[in-house]
Parts: sequence; structure tokens; C-alpha cells
Amino acid sequence: MQVLVVLDHPDPRAFSAAVASRFSAGAETAGHRVELADLHAEGFDPRWTLADIEGDRSGVPPADVQREQTRIARADAICFVFPLFWWGMPAMTKGWVDRVWSWGWAYDQLEDPELSLQRPRTGVFLVPAGARSDEMEECGYQQAIETQWLKGAFGYFGFRTRELLVLNGSKGSKKRREALLDRAFEAGKALKDPGGPD
Ligand SMILES: Cc1cc2nc3c(=O)[nH]c(=O)nc-3n(C[C@H](O)[C@H](O)[C@H](O)COP(=O)(O)O)c2cc1C
Repeated sequence: MQVLVVLDHPDPRAFSAAVASRFSAGAETAGHRVELADLHAEGFDPRWTLADIEGDRSGVPPADVQREQTRIARADAICFVFPLFWWGMPAMTKGWVDRVWSWGWAYDQLEDPELSLQRPRTGVFLVPAGARSDEMEECGYQQAIETQWLKGAFGYFGFRTRELLVLNGSKGSKKRREALLDRAFEAGKALKDPGGPD
């Protein structure tokens, strides 16, 4: 499969960057081809502006959005890597989703959010988080992001195979972080095929 890894972190030495790299190594071990979209390094502008609205109206999105859509078009699987910020996506990923997965390209109706315009793909969220998993469960954060991201976002994206892996304790000991990196590698190695169209 062709795998697109979308990394959102300004620091190449960050844990999130290591997670993206280990996931990619796992995917390559399984025989997949990996393309990295390093949003900060590439200078992606996450701000949704009048140019995006005019792009929706005319059917011709801004050039930078078209470039991202071309990358998505060739991908069979997409993996998002970003640190959990305020129990949600950091602004860069949020803006990439807002601008690139646009009305008329990703979806064009609201009655059935599972009816995407896009072909079936595999989607994975790999999300380092400072909090413990029991804290996230108890407060309902885990359930909230599952609903928003797996059902809300991946549903509209048309992803058939969906996975959310929160890497809790990302600021913990070296041993803890190594174990989380191993999980990222295994997630890449175990990537599932989205299957063909219905
Ligand atoms: C602005 C900001 C907001 C954060 N919000 C959360 C949060 O809501 N929940 C959480 O578990 N960790 C939160 N964290 C901790 C990050 O998730 C953690 O620092 C990150 O996973 C570490 O990975 P990194 O080295 O790649 O940045 C936050 C960190 C920052 C800087």
C-alpha cells in the first residue's frame, strides 16, 4: 500500500517525530511505501481563509490545498501523528483537515456522514499524550475523541478501517517512551488493507 504519514510537530527531535519515524519503519517492514507530510517543515498554512471559501464556490481550491489533495489521492492509508493538545488536535492538524478535506472534494451531503466522495482508505491516529489512560477514560476524553475523530472525521473521509492509538504517558520515563515507540512500529507493521469499493 501507499501510506501517507501526516506529522504535526515543529521539533524534529520531538517524541511525535520519533513516533512518525517508527510507524513508518514498521510500515516499510511490511512492504508498504511511505510518504511523509511534515506540515511544519513544509510550511503548510493551516488558516482557513476567503481563498478557501472562493475555492469551494469555484470548484478550484488554492494551490497548496490541491497539492495536499494530490498526496491524499495516491494514498491507500493515512496516519496522523500529533501530540494531544487540550484534549483535541493541535491547530496545524486541525487546519490541514479544515482546508484539505473540503466540501465537494471529500463529501457533499450531510444526511449520511458515512457517504464520502473519497475511495475507501485505512486511517490511523497515533497521538502522544501526557495524561494516563485511566484519567482519560474517567473524564470521558477518550470517548470524546473516539467520537469526533473516528466517527466524525474518518467517517466523512470515507475511511473504512479506522484506528485510534493514544500513546499515554508520552512525557514519562525512557522505558515508557521506548514501549510507546514499539507500539508505533507494530501499528505500522500491522496496517490493514481498506478493502475494495462496495
Ligand atoms: C499546548 C499543549 C497542550 C497540551 N494538552 C494536553 C492535553 O490536553 N492532554 C494531554 O494528555 N497532554 C497534553 N499536552 C501534553 C502533550 O500531549 C505532550 O507534551 C506530548 O505528547 C509530548 O510529545 P512531544 O514531545 O512530541 O511534544 C499538552 C501539551 C501542550 C504543549
